[in-house]
Amino acid sequence: MKALSYDLVPTVITITLLTILPIGYTKDITFSYTETSAQDNLTNTQPRVWDIKHYQDNTAVLRISRDNYFIGNTTRCFEQKLMLRVIQTNGSVIPINLDIIEEIQDINYCLVNDKRMIIDWNGYNISKIEFGPSYLLPGTNIWIPNDYLTVNPWIGFLRLSMIRGTNNFIWSQYAYYGDGLFSLLRNDTVENLDLTNIQVSVLPTLNYGYAIIYTNTNRNTADPLSKSGGLYVMFLNYNQTTTSQPFVLYEKSTQNVVFTRLACSIDYSHISYECVLIMEQEDPASINGINNTITSCIKIRFLSTGSRLKLDSIFNLTLTSFNTLPLGGYILISQKTALNSTVNFTVLLYDENSKPWEFLQQPIISNLASSYDILPNNTMLVSQNETTTTWNLLAINLPQLGPFNDSGYGNLHVNSTYPSKGSNDLSLNFNMIHIIYQEPVSLSDGYLTIYQIINRKNVLRQIINSKTCQCNISVTVIKINILSCTFNYPGGKYFIQIDNNFVKTESNEPLLGIQPNIWTFETANKSIGQNRSDTAYGILRLTTKGTQYFLELSDSKRHLFFDDLIKELTVMIPIEEGMLSSNEHYQLDPDDVTKFFISISIKETKDSDNMTTSEIKTNLDQLIKNKAYTGI
Ligand SMILES: *[C@@H]1O[C@H](CO)[C@@H](O)[C@H](O)[C@H]1NC(C)=O
Ligand SMILES: *[C@@H]1O[C@H](CO)[C@@H](O)[C@H](O)[C@H]1NC(C)=O
Ligand SMILES: *[C@@H]1O[C@H](CO)[C@@H](O)[C@H](O)[C@H]1NC(C)=O
Ligand SMILES: *[C@@H]1O[C@H](CO)[C@@H](O)[C@H](O)[C@H]1NC(C)=O
Ligand SMILES: *[C@@H]1O[C@H](CO)[C@@H](O)[C@H](O)[C@H]1NC(C)=O
Ligand SMILES: *[C@@H]1O[C@H](CO)[C@@H](O)[C@H](O)[C@H]1NC(C)=O
Ligand SMILES: *[C@@H]1O[C@H](CO)[C@@H](O)[C@H](O)[C@H]1NC(C)=O
Ligand SMILES: *[C@@H]1O[C@H](CO)[C@@H](O)[C@H](O)[C@H]1NC(C)=O
Repeated sequence: MKALSYDLVPTVITITLLTILPIGYTKDITFSYTETSAQDNLTNTQPRVWDIKHYQDNTAVLRISRDNYFIGNTTRCFEQKLMLRVIQTNGSVIPINLDIIEEIQDINYCLVNDKRMIIDWNGYNISKIEFGPSYLLPGTNIWIPNDYLTVNPWIGFLRLSMIRGTNNFIWSQYAYYGDGLFSLLRNDTVENLDLTNIQVSVLPTLNYGYAIIYTNTNRNTADPLSKSGGLYVMFLNYNQTTTSQPFVLYEKSTQNVVFTRLACSIDYSHISYECVLIMEQEDPASINGINNTITSCIKIRFLSTGSRLKLDSIFNLTLTSFNTLPLGGYILISQKTALNSTVNFTVLLYDENSKPWEFLQQPIISNLASSYDILPNNTMLVSQNETTTTWNLLAINLPQLGPFNDSGYGNLHVNSTYPSKGSNDLSLNFNMIHIIYQEPVSLSDGYLTIYQIINRKNVLRQIINSKTCQCNISVTVIKINILSCTFNYPGGKYFIQIDNNFVKTESNEPLLGIQPNIWTFETANKSIGQNRSDTAYGILRLTTKGTQYFLELSDSKRHLFFDDLIKELTVMIPIEEGMLSSNEHYQLDPDDVTKFFISISIKETKDSDNMTTSEIKTNLDQLIKNKAYTGI
């Protein structure tokens, strides 16, 4: 047993890593956190983990709370504080306690969510969005769950809400505009649903849209008691104005069907979507009024074109959830409430071809909320029974069950790259990068962006769209020409980010990209070693828009304009401060009176380590000619 302890402002925490072998696959770890902060202790009950969510970089966020009181026998109300715990990848925990009783109605602490808040890790409130009316049964505090929310990181989120008293639901796309700004982008109503027999799952798609997967029944007007029903999917693109036609994934025509469970997940290994659906129907063999119901369970794999790839019957009728695994394969989980405020988890593990794998630790005993999550690195977190002051998580490293080895790009389909991840001796001004995928790909419509990290800031160096790039693609290898001024910084730290849908698979599914700060590398820190060279003068021409902007500036603002321009170019070229300057003169272009020339000079180099004047000129020229792509 290993114990680590360190201080973390503002609370002191102790983290215990307890190794229990042999269970799970490699080493399962129990992560414990003692709540020692000075919080109101209204109820003397233990802090429980109610929910676990993750970010793409394996950071986990937990919602914890203590019971406060009950409404009736079942509706649980928590202490009136929003308590989140952010577990960073190095194991340290950032506690967030939002004490905003006056802003949030009491009922919101009773397993009800009415209003959303976007908060950052320091617990500052970034953004609040008011949604429509809450759906409490009139005159009571009983909440009707009617609301599904799916987040597409960096882009926004989708909210789906059932309209009580109708057969409709509304979907609303919210857009994220950066700096904590969210607002409603598009919404529409979907009609003629049977809300008495609906199961819904909403997923973010790989082209930054959403998939709404739902069951529906169609009443037969001739015989109102006989219903047919099925499973449907509706894909919504980002900023789409109207509802798309749904695709049929599965339909059953004759007997009355009651859908009891639907769970869906994206399969990142075999790029597709997968759902498990459980339904009950009357046994046609029922006789003499004896009502026998047959329960069945199917698993469906489909593409964003709506085409169904596979349908399997599976025999797991106690299933409570289904997840595809980040490194391939999937799990089916059955949960059963046990005595002593705990839940037994039975986990069945399968590879991509549905071949079962032994899961060594059965059952897992979780806390009352039975919350769990699977991190992008294939670690499953399960909340454990709490003690009066401590909450605990079990971390299980699941095996890799997909066809490809994980190369560490957070994308199973990337085999390798040039420059390779982590390389640090790249020669300056290289002008080609390549990516080798695991399967044949073709160019689609997305961006690849090259950033340089300067003073902890991400500075855009070049942006490339797959529709317009100078790329050569042959089966699994894509080669991309880069401006030679992009990697012009000796000892520069760079990373390349690839958006989803930069390339697509053979079946035209958008492929997952590469998140920021993963494909990182450095240029060699070698001096260039050149001869001395003379001072050079040059003129830059402002665009018409730039000239107009410049004309409207006051004298002091014009001085700032020159200052900023010189500073920006100094960083991008890159040269020492003071080598680039301007006498701040400007004149009209005699050939085009809507444009100004401004003058700029490059000082002679004294130091042999610096770039020559002509190299600086070349860099400057490239940066400016390609200004649409270089972030100038
Ligand atoms: C809550 O109060 C009880 C009784 O006063 C005490 O035993 C317990 O340690 C407190 N819990 C926390 C987390 O402060
Ligand atoms: C609460 O539970 C008790 C005993 O189980 C039962 O008699 C009572 O009717 C329940 N109250 C409500 C409001 O459900
Ligand atoms: C996955 O990420 C979690 C949280 O960052 C970390 O504790 C765990 O060790 C990682 N697992 C593997 C297999 O890298
Ligand atoms: C853990 O990582 C965070 C952010 O990366 C850093 O701020 C913090 O100091 C680290 N904590 C420890 C104990 O290394
Ligand atoms: C979309 O949202 C607006 C603003 O909240 C609302 O007025 C409108 O009724 C909504 N449209 C639909 C179809 O729900
Ligand atoms: C959404 O589409 C409209 C045009 O249909 C466009 O004007 C608007 O800028 C788009 N909004 C976003 C956030 O992309
Ligand atoms: C779970 O915790 C509660 C209180 O903290 C305790 O009463 C119960 O016995 C525990 N259950 C198990 C299975 O450890
Ligand atoms: C792509 O191929 C063309 C012609 O075959 C060649 O001129 C170009 O340099 C190649 N570009 C890359 C990035 O390999």
